[in-house]
Amino acid sequence: MALALLLFLAFKVLGASSEVRQFFLKQVSGQDCQTLQLGESWTSHSPITCQRESLSLYSENCQSVVYNSQTRMCTPGSIAFGPLDRVTTSIPESSLSDKLYFVRQPIPPCNTSNNFALYDVCGTSACLYFSTSKAENYSDARTLCSQMNSSLFVGNTMAKFSLLWHTSKTYMNADTFIGLQDIDVEGNFVWENGEPLSYEQKQYIWLPKQPDNKRSRQDCAVTWPSFNSQIQGLDDERCNIKRHFICERCGQC
Ligand SMILES: *[C@@H]1O[C@H](CO)[C@@H](O)[C@H](O)[C@H]1NC(C)=O
Ligand SMILES: *[C@@H]1O[C@H](CO)[C@@H](O)[C@H](O)[C@H]1NC(C)=O
Ligand SMILES: *[C@@H]1O[C@H](CO)[C@@H](O)[C@H](O)[C@H]1NC(C)=O
Repeated sequence: MALALLLFLAFKVLGASSEVRQFFLKQVSGQDCQTLQLGESWTSHSPITCQRESLSLYSENCQSVVYNSQTRMCTPGSIAFGPLDRVTTSIPESSLSDKLYFVRQPIPPCNTSNNFALYDVCGTSACLYFSTSKAENYSDARTLCSQMNSSLFVGNTMAKFSLLWHTSKTYMNADTFIGLQDIDVEGNFVWENGEPLSYEQKQYIWLPKQPDNKRSRQDCAVTWPSFNSQIQGLDDERCNIKRHFICERCGQC
């Protein structure tokens, strides 16, 4: 909605990976894009250096910064949005001179064949396909995505995970496969690209008391309806059940 975006400036930096990251610094309303503080603040002489330093420390997990133009305090953050109840605006914009900016992440190329589409919220985007029919099981879902030159959705940053919730309103209330499982090592959930859950994701993306590996046979994360319409998140469930699934086309997934 009224993001009241102020395009502040645009420039390029070298990210932690070798790829050139192009991004924008935008001022946003904290309510649209909530921030989670990634680490300690420091002083930095401008929003640009604040952002550059944050990116070099936190790479793609840095999706926002709060910069105070008077004290010059720079606070690195990640962005989350959507119905993740336990995410609160944890970087307070405590004075008028505190400003929250988000970092535009690189936009992946999106071949829209097979009904893929590019979704873009709060500076983060992904090329996604929401299945119209169910896969037989997790490995079938994997195969179906791969037949469309894609993989099961990798929500490896808070912003990308939130993007899923934001763009799949109907799927929030159905048990749906994404690319997250602990089939190989119990308790060690990994995204389809091999990345483990980040510290903050372990805190925020599961439903209360999940994952619980009930009856020792729940190895696939699924999006799950809320129990009380307040909290929505992931549940670990059996891999061997028919479910909808979400694929992602991404250069590096
Ligand atoms: C997009 O993918 C389709 C097949 O899935 C392919 O035929 C087409 O050439 C691709 N387009 C581009 C621009 O790569
Ligand atoms: C998953 O479904 C596929 C397709 O029906 C089937 O070939 C495969 O055996 C199933 N895998 C498991 C582990 O049941
Ligand atoms: C998938 O990608 C490969 C190589 O990039 C290409 O040859 C093939 O046509 C693509 N298939 C589809 C269904 O897009």
